[in-house]
Amino acid sequence: MASNTAALPTTHRALVLRDVNIDPKVEQVPVPEVLPGTALLRVLASPIISYAKDVFLGNKRGYPYPLPLVPGASAVCRVAALGPDATSLEIGQLVQFDCLVRARDAQDGPKQFLSAFFDGFSAASKKLMRDAFRDGTFAEYVRVPLENVFVLDESRLLGSPGSGGLGLKVEELGELVALPVPFGGLNGVDLRPGEQVLISPATGPFGGAACMVALAMGAKVLAWGRDEKKLENVQGILETISHGRFRGMVNVVKLYNDPSKDAEAIKTAAGGRPIDVFFDISPPQAAGSTHLKTGIQSLRHSGRVSLMGGLMGDVPLPHHFIMHNDITLKGKWMYSRDDLLLLIKMVETGILKIGREGGCSVADTFGLDDWKQAWDVAEEKAGLGEKVLIKP
Ligand SMILES: NC(=O)c1ccc[n+]([C@@H]2O[C@H](COP(=O)([O-])OP(=O)(O)OC[C@H]3O[C@@H](n4cnc5c(N)ncnc54)[C@H](OP(=O)(O)O)[C@@H]3O)[C@@H](O)[C@H]2O)c1
Repeated sequence: MASNTAALPTTHRALVLRDVNIDPKVEQVPVPEVLPGTALLRVLASPIISYAKDVFLGNKRGYPYPLPLVPGASAVCRVAALGPDATSLEIGQLVQFDCLVRARDAQDGPKQFLSAFFDGFSAASKKLMRDAFRDGTFAEYVRVPLENVFVLDESRLLGSPGSGGLGLKVEELGELVALPVPFGGLNGVDLRPGEQVLISPATGPFGGAACMVALAMGAKVLAWGRDEKKLENVQGILETISHGRFRGMVNVVKLYNDPSKDAEAIKTAAGGRPIDVFFDISPPQAAGSTHLKTGIQSLRHSGRVSLMGGLMGDVPLPHHFIMHNDITLKGKWMYSRDDLLLLIKMVETGILKIGREGGCSVADTFGLDDWKQAWDVAEEKAGLGEKVLIKP
């Protein structure tokens, strides 16, 4: 039995996708029942990924998910009701819903999926999404696993600076959705303060987030990308955030997709300092680009590589270089629960700035009915720290 459900409505508004070739519609649907092991959350602000249109309209990315579906991934929410086995969460708390859902009874390695987005790689994750946690946060309410609810320190995050708060707005907390992804990769290869990390492409939402996270972790950043204007913008934002705390910590490198030109450009930008880590989060369109190989070859002996990109096919690797230089390659999908807990602490302490002081801006917010415009704008406004959100 759920606790404290008396004040809840019986129905709510949700954006329902019934067929990938037909536009989703806002429908009045039943509020999900709160079962043991779950929480019901009131969605306050749900950030939209830049490629939402590709995933849900025609599913150009071919992501597998069950239908019908309410799209919408990680979001800032308030706890509306709790299953009877909740022990720490409280009704009314400001929380982050994390969309990476893990099977609790998995026997041989993690079985996980991205809520309302991608049902994972196993029969177990597909079943879990289809039968238990299918619907997402482009809705007034969402039912989620208890362990996917992360309490946010509301008075610290939203409180006024005069009273010891960071003065953030709820929408600005949307940045908590992008930042854990690169943190999972960078923490996974143990990026250390004082190290130098090459990040590609640094101009996209996740690459830009990687630059912010790496700086907060104390590393020097080489921001790599094809578009010099966008790179200059990224450098400008990164160097001026936090009152110039990172001035001199960011160098940009133009990506030519020409191995010898790229190697030279990286060497020059590195300024004689070794490159300790190469972090890549390329989109599928970068398949065939030579930068992955060049990035690996730019590393010092015993350098580490974090592979987080969405490249679908196989890629050529510089085997001889990797072997002779003790290079570690580490793939990473998303992040661990501990990564997310740590990342939230970094934001709450202020070591990792979000909001205006962190160079992030809320580009736009939309109601549920304007979902189409919202997805268009999210595709356009995909620069560093830019966020487009739905506030259902
Ligand atoms: N491993 C994980 O857990 C995880 C989690 C989330 C996302 N991802 C993956 O990360 C990818 C990036 O996400 P995003 O939202 O930041 O990306 P995005 O908006 O799709 O694109 C990012 C950047 O890619 C660059 N780019 C496009 N085509 C390129 C090419 N041919 N060569 C080099 N760079 C190219 C663009 O930079 P310029 O136009 O400025 O060159 C753009 O700024 C996604 O596609 C997703 O698959 C992985």
